[in-house]
Amino acid sequence: MLIHNNISLRDKNSFGFDVTAEYFCRANSVEEIREAIAWQRQKQLPLFILGGGSNTVFTRNISGLVLHIAIDKLHTDTTGDLVSVFAGAGINWHSLVESTVLKGQYGLENLALIPGNAGAAPIQNIGAYGKELCDNLISVDVLDQQTDELLTLQTDDCQFGYRQSLFKTSAGSKLIVLGIKLQLSTVDTPVINYAALREALPENDITAEQVFRQVCALRQSKLPDPAKLGNAGSFFKNPIVESQHVDTLRQQYPHLPVYPQAGGCFKLPAAWLIDQAGWKGHRVNGVGVHDRQALVLVNHGTGNGQQIAILAEEIRADIRQRYNIDLEPEPVIYQ
Ligand code: EPU
Repeated sequence: MLIHNNISLRDKNSFGFDVTAEYFCRANSVEEIREAIAWQRQKQLPLFILGGGSNTVFTRNISGLVLHIAIDKLHTDTTGDLVSVFAGAGINWHSLVESTVLKGQYGLENLALIPGNAGAAPIQNIGAYGKELCDNLISVDVLDQQTDELLTLQTDDCQFGYRQSLFKTSAGSKLIVLGIKLQLSTVDTPVINYAALREALPENDITAEQVFRQVCALRQSKLPDPAKLGNAGSFFKNPIVESQHVDTLRQQYPHLPVYPQAGGCFKLPAAWLIDQAGWKGHRVNGVGVHDRQALVLVNHGTGNGQQIAILAEEIRADIRQRYNIDLEPEPVIYQ
């Protein structure tokens, strides 16, 4: 295992911010992760775990060791209609979705083209077009940095919610995801309850492969490709508010879209709130708000993480003032 010194992370974060890692290493196995942790402990350096870098905002150089998890094992077991797939944390998420769908193993089609690696998928319980990772997840293999134990957490142990999991809490922050086990099926039963997806598909005889292609087309039509325009997907979570709050907002904004949630609350599209507030296409220094999806902040090429953090705070302050809503950033911002 090689440990590099003073490495640029530009091609290792989807915003393309040119920060450096004091030390960097790529771990292809649990043994290599353990080796890297032992080295970092012996040198008393901070440790930073990096997956695909698609949900990360670097605002400064990273001191200590950046450990990139690159485990790429893939293992499939089929029993009758059921297919269980174990995917190493370092496998690119979209390649996994595409390869399973094309092999006739269905379940992940709605989650096509989400940037990042399989290991990051449970951390924020990735979701899109009517499905979330937890719908098809069996378990997550982790290494506990504190105890050096290898654990398999069942889906119920992971405290999944909307863009939320155990791994985002302090109790789970020392767990390194090594791989995930997914439950897929050879039976083609597409999920098409997301309005924008259903409207874009024919009325009858829809297949999972069609869903896969349509989700790709929808995402490509409004979300920028990080390889061309740096971004981290949705920058804010969609806020969940009480029905009274919706009633107040509706008096001023009668066209406000709302999605009813369990417990009488409503999820509001942050993109709509930001768009109505006039931020779409806004550009400042080298960063801005995407001109086709107001929820996506972008690096126009010369921007940096500090500028993104400032822009995000300006948007949050404006949204708070206009709608009395506090938007929560989705990516992790390293200040
Ligand atoms: N809208 C606007 N202006 C815009 C964009 C959207 O007014 O610039 C309105 C739309 O008209 C619609 C509503 O906002 O009424 C919702 O838009 P959309 O269906 O595009 O979804 P979203 O809520 O903006 C969420 C996820 C996306 C996911 C899509 C599709 C979050 C934070 N984002 O976006 O996830 O792809 O639904 O399911 O939940 C990601 O996490 O990186 C991501 C892209």
